[in-house]
This record gives sequence, structure tokens and C-alpha cells, in this order.
Amino acid sequence: MNRFTLPRDLYHGTGALEALKSLKGKRAMVVVGGGSMKRFGFLDKVVDYLKEAGMEVELFENVEPDPSVETVMRGADAMLKFQPDWIVAMGGGSPIDAAKAMWIKYEYPDCTFEDMCKVFGIPELRKKAHFCAIPSTSGTATEVTAFSIITDYSKGVKYPIADFEITPDVAIVDPALAETMPQKLVAHTGMDAMTHAIEAYVSTANCDYTDPLALHAIEMIQADLVESYNGDMAKRAAMHNAQCLAGMAFSNALLGIVHSMAHKTGAAFADYGAHIIHGAANAMYLPKVIAFNAKDETAAKRYAAIADRMNLGGNTTEEKVQLLIAYLRKMNDDLKIPHCIKNYGADSYPTEQGFVPEEVFLERLPEIAKNAIGDACTGSNPRQPSQEEMEKLLKCCYYDTEVDF
Ligand SMILES: NC(=O)c1ccc[n+]([C@@H]2O[C@H](COP(=O)([O-])OP(=O)(O)OC[C@H]3O[C@@H](n4cnc5c(N)ncnc54)[C@H](O)[C@@H]3O)[C@@H](O)[C@H]2O)c1
Ligand SMILES: [Zn+2]
Repeated sequence: MNRFTLPRDLYHGTGALEALKSLKGKRAMVVVGGGSMKRFGFLDKVVDYLKEAGMEVELFENVEPDPSVETVMRGADAMLKFQPDWIVAMGGGSPIDAAKAMWIKYEYPDCTFEDMCKVFGIPELRKKAHFCAIPSTSGTATEVTAFSIITDYSKGVKYPIADFEITPDVAIVDPALAETMPQKLVAHTGMDAMTHAIEAYVSTANCDYTDPLALHAIEMIQADLVESYNGDMAKRAAMHNAQCLAGMAFSNALLGIVHSMAHKTGAAFADYGAHIIHGAANAMYLPKVIAFNAKDETAAKRYAAIADRMNLGGNTTEEKVQLLIAYLRKMNDDLKIPHCIKNYGADSYPTEQGFVPEEVFLERLPEIAKNAIGDACTGSNPRQPSQEEMEKLLKCCYYDTEVDF
């Protein structure tokens, strides 16, 4: 038996934010990030609409990018005091993911972070509150997914929480919120969305319900991302929808090792002063993982089907896979994303020598590879890597060398 779960309601298009006026409840806790939503006036609008719906509103602000376990626990404490019956999370993937984890802790105060990380092991939610998510970036699609990514900084590791219990009840996909994204954020979150769609399509858990969503998202991202990056606001609006479709696909078809590797490298070098931003990590690793997975015949055929859908040409499966890899690398160039960790600058732009020193990377490699294999996204990857293969693959992602194994 398979399950396909999405939010009960999804409001999209210009003015969708006003759907908040129709929520029914007494108290809403609004969870937001560091200030962009406030600065651009969206937070005020949200508070006004919720008040118009007759609710008392309290804010939980300043959720940091790549939110920590500590932030989750603080937010849950605030919820326990305020007792909301709606949690409204607005912003990028970070505040929405943090709010999802706060929700679990709010409903089950004895639940520890380790308990939350047991895949599909979350007890029944919605006894205290329902959840509404409003994305301001066009990538993670956490507004429709069963996932939340929380970072344990004491270990330098990102942990995915995965359960359909945390799929939001309401998603509001309003393009106005995405218009204020700076260029770099458009690039990173857009390639995150492309990775979601491609990994979902080749995942071992793909199905007739997820395939059309994944393929349509890929086609849209191909058509819209680079121009959205270059300031075309109609394309920006289309990308907001495309990333959401990709999310519907991957929440139900799951992901693969591009995400496993991105999760386990993202914060692994934080002591050198920077993160490898989630979307940028995916963008760098995706072409390498395609080359690795394409050794599996079924996966290769699926990559070829993607290349066909993108009209990339080629006569054989092998040619089509190569054309797909080349196309994605060209997208990275157009979006100023480096091709490998060695060239990943602390500001995320390409540079001769990035912020991760070679000897530090090599020293940490066995542990990172082990963690990546153990990541929740590895199980649905079409080819299961050994420790040795994962280390080799990560080396290719460090040096930008060919994957020939
Ligand atoms: N839950 C999932 O299914 C899922 C999927 C992929 C990634 N993630 C996680 O999501 C996080 C990344 O989320 P993200 O890429 O959306 O970025 P983010 O939420 O970390 O935000 C990054 C920065 O962009 C700013 N920002 C957000 N929206 C803006 C806007 N419209 N205008 C101007 N500035 C804006 C924020 O204030 C912040 O400083 C990572 O922790 C990643 O692991 C989760
Ligand atoms: Zn992602």
C-alpha cells in the first residue's frame, strides 16, 4: 500500500495571502525568520488578516537560517505558554521547518529531539493546533512536505524529521512574497527545487501520482529559473508554483543521495566560518550523482526521459544522460553557483580556493560519508552506495572530477 498526502487546502496566485482571513480559531502563533517578512510588510499583513479572522496573535521571531534544536525548544516553550490552535509559519524553509518541529514538541512536550528524528514515528498531531505555511522562497516547498530539517550544531549535522503528520493543513503560495528575494537566494532555492523534482522522479518510491508533478516541475524550472534570477517577475511567480509542484512530488516519492550529501556537508565545516548553502550543495552534487546513479539501468532510463521532456536531444540513453548533466552544469554557470566544494567561496560564489581546506575535507571525509549513507534520503536512491563509493563520490564533488565508477 502506498500513501499520497498533501495539505487539505492550497491557496495560490496573487492575493492568496488573504486566505488567512478564512482560518477559524482563537489563537494564532506566527513563526518567522530574521526580519525580511517584517521589512517588506508581509508580517503586518498576516497579523491583520488573522485578527480579522477573530484571532489573538502572538509572534515568535528571529528563527535563524538552518534552525537549531535550541530554537525549536524555545519556540515550543512559547507555544506551551500561549496555547495556539493555529501555527502560522511564514518565510523560507528555515522558519517553516522550525515551526513544524516546535509543533511536535508543543503537542508532545515529553518528545525529545531524538524521538522526532525516528522516520515516520511522530505521534498523531492536531490535538492542539493546525498548521498553515506561507513560503517566501521558491525552493524547499516545505509548505506541502512531510519534512523538516533541523541542525544539531553540537554534532554539526542536519537531521531530517519525516512524517506525514507534519504535512501542513493549509499552504499559501503567494508570488508577492517571492518578489523580494535577492538574486543569490533565487539561484540556490531554484536549484534546490530542480533537485527535488529530479530526485523524486528517479527515486525508488516514484509512482504514477508523483511522476507528472515531478516532470512538469522540471519543465517549468528549465523555462523559468534563469530568467527569474535575472529579474523577470512573471517567471519569479511561475517558479513559486514550480517549486511547490516539485515539493508535492518529493514529499510522496522521497529524495535521494544528493540530499543525503547536502544534509551531511552543509554544516560540517561551519567551524571554518561558513555553511555550504543547501540549494548550492544540491546544485553542485546533482550532476555527479546523476553520473553515479546512471550506472543503474532503470535510473538511466528515467534520466533520459527527463532529458527528452527538456528537449535536450541525444540518440542513446547514455547521450541523453550526458546532455542532462551538461545542461545542469550550464544552469549552475548561469546562476553563478560553483561546480565543486573546492571552488565554493564563503560567500557561495565560485572562487579559486574556497573556504573548505583540502586537508580538512579529506580528514572529515570518512565520517561525512558514513553520515550521508545513514541519512533518511539514502533509502530511496536508485543505487545504494558503499562507504568506499560514497567517499569517492564526495571527492568528485570536492575536486569536480569525473564519476567513472
Ligand atoms: N522541509 C523540507 O522539505 C526542506 C526541503 C529542502 C530544504 N529544507 C531546509 O530549508 C532550509 C533552507 O530554506 P530556504 O532555502 O528557503 O532559506 P532560509 O529560510 O534559510 O532563508 C535564507 C535567508 O533568506 C531570507 N529570506 C527569505 N525569504 C526572503 C524574501 N522573500 N526576500 C528576502 N529575503 C528572504 C531569510 O531571512 C534568510 O536570511 C535549510 O535548512 C534546508 O535544509 C527543507
Ligand atoms: Zn532540498
